[in-house]
Amino acid sequence: MKINLSNIKKAKNLLFNSECIAIPTETVYGLAGNAYSDKACKKIFTLKKRPKNNPLIVHYHKFQDLKKDCSFNKNFIKLYKKFCPGPITFILDLKKNSKISKFVTNKKKTLAVRFPKHPITRNLLKRLNFPLAAPSANLSKRVSAVCSSHVKDDFGKKIKYILEGGKSSIGLESTIIDLRTKPKILRLGGLDFSAIQRVLNQKVKIQNNPSKISAPGQFKLHYSPGIPIKLNIRKVKDDEAYILIREKKIKKSNYYFLSRKGDLKEAAKNLYSTLRKIKKNKHLSISVSKIPNKGLGKTINDRLIRASKF
Ligand code: TXA
Ligand code: MG
Repeated sequence: MKINLSNIKKAKNLLFNSECIAIPTETVYGLAGNAYSDKACKKIFTLKKRPKNNPLIVHYHKFQDLKKDCSFNKNFIKLYKKFCPGPITFILDLKKNSKISKFVTNKKKTLAVRFPKHPITRNLLKRLNFPLAAPSANLSKRVSAVCSSHVKDDFGKKIKYILEGGKSSIGLESTIIDLRTKPKILRLGGLDFSAIQRVLNQKVKIQNNPSKISAPGQFKLHYSPGIPIKLNIRKVKDDEAYILIREKKIKKSNYYFLSRKGDLKEAAKNLYSTLRKIKKNKHLSISVSKIPNKGLGKTINDRLIRASKF
């Protein structure tokens, strides 16, 4: 997608005035504000109706910019070199003299940081002298937005500006990894965690069911399209929506295909827009056929399981 400089300048001016805007990323759209500004960060929580104790991810242009705010270690450097910019978020220790707003972290001593790859948002970040705090640009607990029109559907005129960036190329939120001690995955995401294991050269635990929730992407009810979802279904009634991983010869108006050939990357990219489309088409429930539980299929299943706890 071509970079439109006047759009980027408009975004920049609003951010400098502590306003919140939507930004495109390769994972999902974000609802962004100056991470050093209490005013901007407070607005993000209000707009999103997000509980105050759910901390935000902070988005940087490059490693150098992060050094003021966080300490890091060898594992961070290995993963940064291999995957950044890209769909991975690191939990690191926050430095005492960091300027990050207390609203971002809810006074926690850790910070979630990410280096998004989308060229428009990278261009914007390069022009700012502060990083951007940004949760996914959807109403709390609902399906994330992968197009500007989804952001509009959720927020209408409440958001001052949406920086257009086309459809998100990955379509699933970033993979979150806690690197403070022994690396552990807190949220499966758009980067296959087996690639992370290869780079770190060790098995990495997935913290699925923590007694203490440290990433509310782990809360049961999340990513919900607002109607019941059932998984691993082979037969459906005509009035329910049926999501299939690969195209079939038989096409019915209630069939929704995530991919032509069962490609998991393509399916990931189409998942959230399909869930939103089904809701718009006024189906009352959703059945999903079996999705292979490997690679990005693991993340797709993770999101569908959470969405099914309706
Ligand atoms: O792909 C993404 O990660 C997108 C784009 C916009 O970057 N952002 C996103 O943000 O998914 P959000 O707020 O919807 O999810 C961030 C998750 C939440 O589950 C939050 O609890 C967790 O990150 N998180 C943030 N700070 C944390 C911290 N210090 N420790 C543990 N988890 C944290
Ligand atoms: Mg979210």
